[in-house]
Amino acid sequence: MYLYMIICIIGSGGREHSICKTISLSSKISKIYCMPGNAGTQLLAENIELDINDFEKVLKFLKKIKVDLVIVGPEKPLVNGIVDYLEKNNIKVFGPRKIPSQLEGSKTFTKNICKKYNIPTANFGIFEKKENTLDFLKNSKFPIVIKADGLAAGKGVYISKNFSEAKEAVDEIFDGKFGEAKKILVEEFLNGEEMSFFIVCDGKNFKLFKTAQDHKRVNEGDEGKNTGGMGAYSPSGLINKDLENKIIKKIILPTLKAIEEMGEKYKGFLYAGLMILNNEPFLIEYNVRMGDPECQTILPLLKTDLIDICDACCNENLENINIEWKEEKSLCIVLCSQGYPEKFTNNVKIDNLNKLQLNINDFIFHAGTKKEKNEIFSNGGRVLNFVSLSSSFKSSRERAIKLINQLNWGNGFFRKDIGFKIIDK
Ligand code: AMP
Ligand code: GLY
Repeated sequence: MYLYMIICIIGSGGREHSICKTISLSSKISKIYCMPGNAGTQLLAENIELDINDFEKVLKFLKKIKVDLVIVGPEKPLVNGIVDYLEKNNIKVFGPRKIPSQLEGSKTFTKNICKKYNIPTANFGIFEKKENTLDFLKNSKFPIVIKADGLAAGKGVYISKNFSEAKEAVDEIFDGKFGEAKKILVEEFLNGEEMSFFIVCDGKNFKLFKTAQDHKRVNEGDEGKNTGGMGAYSPSGLINKDLENKIIKKIILPTLKAIEEMGEKYKGFLYAGLMILNNEPFLIEYNVRMGDPECQTILPLLKTDLIDICDACCNENLENINIEWKEEKSLCIVLCSQGYPEKFTNNVKIDNLNKLQLNINDFIFHAGTKKEKNEIFSNGGRVLNFVSLSSSFKSSRERAIKLINQLNWGNGFFRKDIGFKIIDK
């Protein structure tokens, strides 16, 4: 590894700000760029306003700055093959290549692996025609889960209580609400508890990252529309050694074997979205990146240098790295723009951010923000992440809420009940 590396992080959300913050603590960094970044990354890195899906332009810039390592945050460039493209041009990059990224890019790709390798998942059917889907649904038990096949930015999943709701979902998907839909997935509803399980991989070996639980629904009590994530906590209350062993043996190892048998390697973070029923894991979905807001929640717990981890993955020597964690309980609350995930207003000024007195265990990660003439404005539905570490989830939550109240942003709203299953039971 070079000392004093030049790093470029690709992405602009809370996840990328937390990656930026974590690697800024490394002694091996000389400069960080963030493409395109937000008002938070701008405090630690140089933001570069470039379309991250225009790989040629991205490459040209990375060559110009003589980048030592690129870290890709979001799924879209991964699924579109940014890693293959940069590697072909001799750029070191942390993240999976295009084919293994299909684990997130195509639900049918993942389901077919589950079938072939006996990975526990919800029973499913894959359909290509509306009529066949509806015929199948007429004879199904409800609730049932209906999913668009491709990337749908956390949307594109319907839990339908009856045939008429299911028909509406099928119509929306085939009518192109989430882009052209060639395939649709109909899935058994699993009535368990969710958990986000993360590993990091170098193509030969993998190490566990922390677990987390996120809250995807917009309203308290996990009600209402799905969002990108309203908050999270880590570690998950469901994890235990027995469950961890089952997840590795029944889900992670067969998946990595499947990728290997395709002649591919998995490098980067892998995020398994699981449903746990009676201490048994079922795979709901894979993501080929860190979760957002799970990343913001987990990284403040990391003791090991993140640059060492990412670099070791690129060099296929992760086995030499010992990943260490703090013992605290981490909890993140997302402050959103009023109206999210439906219509909301951008460009609302956020005062008071500089006035907040943060302790060593408090973190504010920007998501949808931008800086103009030294002032911060909102620039998205999910605006700021408030993360706090302490000896209990309850006090971490109280602290995060206190900071949000101190900020007192008029256009914001947030869920006060993040972690309710573990705190308020
Ligand atoms: P996904 O985008 O696949 O993570 O799905 C979004 C959300 O829908 C998940 O976080 C779950 O809450 C729910 N979900 C997806 N598939 C199922 C299933 N088979 N059974 C129950 N809930 C599901
Ligand atoms: N928090 C869910 C996700 O990142 O997909």
